[in-house]
Amino acid sequence: MTAQRAVLALKLALWVGALAPGIRLVHGVLTGGLGANPIEMLTHWTGMTALVLLMITLSITPLRRITGWNPIIRLRRPVGLFAFFYALAHFGIWFVFDMVFNVRWMLDDIAERRFITVGMAALLVLVPLAVTSTRGWIRRLGKRWGKLHRGVYVAATLGVVHYYWLVKADVRLPLAFAAGLAVLLVARHPRFAAPRPAPGGGRSAAQREEDDVDAERVRIG
Ligand code: HEM
Repeated sequence: MTAQRAVLALKLALWVGALAPGIRLVHGVLTGGLGANPIEMLTHWTGMTALVLLMITLSITPLRRITGWNPIIRLRRPVGLFAFFYALAHFGIWFVFDMVFNVRWMLDDIAERRFITVGMAALLVLVPLAVTSTRGWIRRLGKRWGKLHRGVYVAATLGVVHYYWLVKADVRLPLAFAAGLAVLLVARHPRFAAPRPAPGGGRSAAQREEDDVDAERVRIG
């Protein structure tokens, strides 16, 4: 299979996989199939899907470095955008059903409950990343685009803290996400990302970091 076909197949799998929870939820809303507490189900599945997709977004660069298969980077932007849309839907459900469109209540809740504060911060970090994900912005921002888009690590970290803080009893799953995130953060670091160059030769850690930014900037799409 050519690289282009492989990317196309992966993109197709991504669209099917990422749209499935949304379709399932819309179907559940329309048919009353979301159980006794539909709002809880909607919040749960949109939040969980957003977090999983954020983790997948973060795993693409390390995967690219480990496998040396550059075309995989083209999946990063669509996965990240899907993560953003689920996070936005998750926020929307809370704003519509919990806050009943009341901005005053919304601001009070953001100020009072720390897990809401960090959840909101995660969403706000994702907004400029989603807005600047177009080809025009990638061109306009140049090298700064790669730097800005490292914000996805901040958003994922805030998302995991949000999840850890909201869970009341069994924190095993949030801790598993935290462990996964820690691995991805370490894998992302240029020092650990590729075999060390032989003394006196090969690319430096800084060069590898630059190359990754370039690859994401140029190849994305
Ligand atoms: C990137 C952003 C976010 C991510 C990844 C995220 C993720 C999650 C996850 C994984 C859950 C747990 C689902 C469950 O097991 O039931 C959750 C629950 C929740 N999130 Fe978020 N969230 C984000 C942003 C937000 C925002 C912006 C708000 C509102 C301002 C929010 C409000 C809530 C609420 C109210 C719950 C349910 C809490 C409960 O069960 O008591 N989240 N979120």
